[in-house]
Amino acid sequence: MLKKKVAVLISGGGTNLQAIIDAEVKGIIKSAEVDLVISNKEHAFGLKRAEKSGIEHYYFNDENHMLDAIKKHNIDIVVLAGFLKILSKDFIKSFGGPIINIHPSLIPSFCGKGCYGIKVHQEALKYGVKVTGATVHYVNEIPDGGEIIAQKAVYIKDDDTPETLQKRVMEEAEWVLLPQAIEDISKEG
Ligand code: GAR
Repeated sequence: MLKKKVAVLISGGGTNLQAIIDAEVKGIIKSAEVDLVISNKEHAFGLKRAEKSGIEHYYFNDENHMLDAIKKHNIDIVVLAGFLKILSKDFIKSFGGPIINIHPSLIPSFCGKGCYGIKVHQEALKYGVKVTGATVHYVNEIPDGGEIIAQKAVYIKDDDTPETLQKRVMEEAEWVLLPQAIEDISKEG
């Protein structure tokens, strides 16, 4: 079977990108391969991860450049892995295929415009919830508003800080959920 071609869009450290690359090596992802990595931040460490793994990678701040590269690579699935820019309606329409995103909370809690990265965990602790987690969802024009694909819960500890919680949500939920979702979507279609 022909593997689905995946483009991963990042903005920062790229630990989710690394989890995807590792899942390919381990055979957790069998039906897809990362063909392209794009960052909207020039110095994102995730670009170094792509380089180390021999994956074509670019820094683009402009959606048209991103789309050109995605079309040139015949990408089937776009994965937002810590990509902190909201994609335009035009981009979503013009790509036309599935775009999925990982968000570090149980949507619909602690999500939407302006709620990303460490802020999500600050808000969860401030509210006092006892359970949080991560969500993989399809991307539409509403920030964090597309159909939910998968969720995983993570318990909050009394002595958690935003940083300890962020790390545990990544380890226990994000790095498991996102590679699995990519495999599930890829083997389906
Ligand atoms: C991850 O926790 C990801 O879920 C979050 O940013 C972090 C990126 O880390 N994304 C969002 O908050 C999107 N709304 P990474 O660059 O190490 O993968």
